[in-house]
Amino acid sequence: MSDEESCCKPNLNQSCCEPSSGSANNIEEAVKKVYGQLWTSQKMSKSAKSKRLASMFSAHEALLKELKPQKGMTVLDIGSGNGETVLTIAEKVGSTGKAVGVDFSPEGIALAKEKAKERKLEKIAEFHQANALELPFPDNSFDAVISECVVCLIQDKQKALNEKVRVLKPGGRVIMHDVITWAPMPQAMRDDQKLYCGCVGGAVSLNEYVKMMRKAGLTNVKTVDFTKDVKKMMNVGLVAKALNLKDDNAVHGIVDFVRKGGIGYALLVGTKNPNAV
Ligand SMILES: C[S@@+](CC[C@H](N)C(=O)[O-])C[C@H]1O[C@@H](n2cnc3c(N)ncnc32)[C@H](O)[C@@H]1O
Repeated sequence: MSDEESCCKPNLNQSCCEPSSGSANNIEEAVKKVYGQLWTSQKMSKSAKSKRLASMFSAHEALLKELKPQKGMTVLDIGSGNGETVLTIAEKVGSTGKAVGVDFSPEGIALAKEKAKERKLEKIAEFHQANALELPFPDNSFDAVISECVVCLIQDKQKALNEKVRVLKPGGRVIMHDVITWAPMPQAMRDDQKLYCGCVGGAVSLNEYVKMMRKAGLTNVKTVDFTKDVKKMMNVGLVAKALNLKDDNAVHGIVDFVRKGGIGYALLVGTKNPNAV
């Protein structure tokens, strides 16, 4: 996959994320639009079949290894994008299991459904257009809930994690990988919608994620650092160009943050209390 097609790096040429008031709705709409365009361009491209965006990270392989999808398992992928991960899991869980993808992008859901049909997996792989903050499933439905580079795009991360845990069976696991920060992010980066849509501006620290996962009801939370994966992609020039900043102090703060490795990446795993009701 070429860099231009990857979603989990700052997609800094997107013109859809113009600065706005930054309200939750504006940001959600901007994210939806960016990824809608990405999935549409994949649909048009002949080689779309092979593109799984998350595979650019070794964290993707680590997630599958941790998940160990087996016959009969039920797995939910939040922010399933083009559906590649769900389809890989569907092949493993077989007709006695279920692999379900949820995404709020209608274009992503349409592409994923088309692929499921092509690969004759539509009885095992289901795709639903829905918001991660309001999952259309009853409590205690899945053996595992996964997400790949998605929670960084959601403003109310605690609510997103609470929803994951709600639909998870007692004893089930949340397994996710995401962009993280290793230092406080300069406000100019936080405020920029392009960086937000590019998975950077909404990132929080590993500690914050762990705290939120515990608060959501997960225990045995473990983390694996994959920062080396993003080091190759993040560079000062890219960020400075994207922000087009005039204020020298802001530029210095950003240069310092990026150079010192402020952006990282991690896999996070937690288990829902087996006695939860
Ligand atoms: C960075 S892409 C990752 C896609 C896929 N997980 C992968 O790794 O290839 C993020 C995806 O999350 C979806 N997304 C972001 N916020 C969401 C939300 N609140 N509810 C549902 N989907 C969301 C986007 O539409 C997009 O498809």
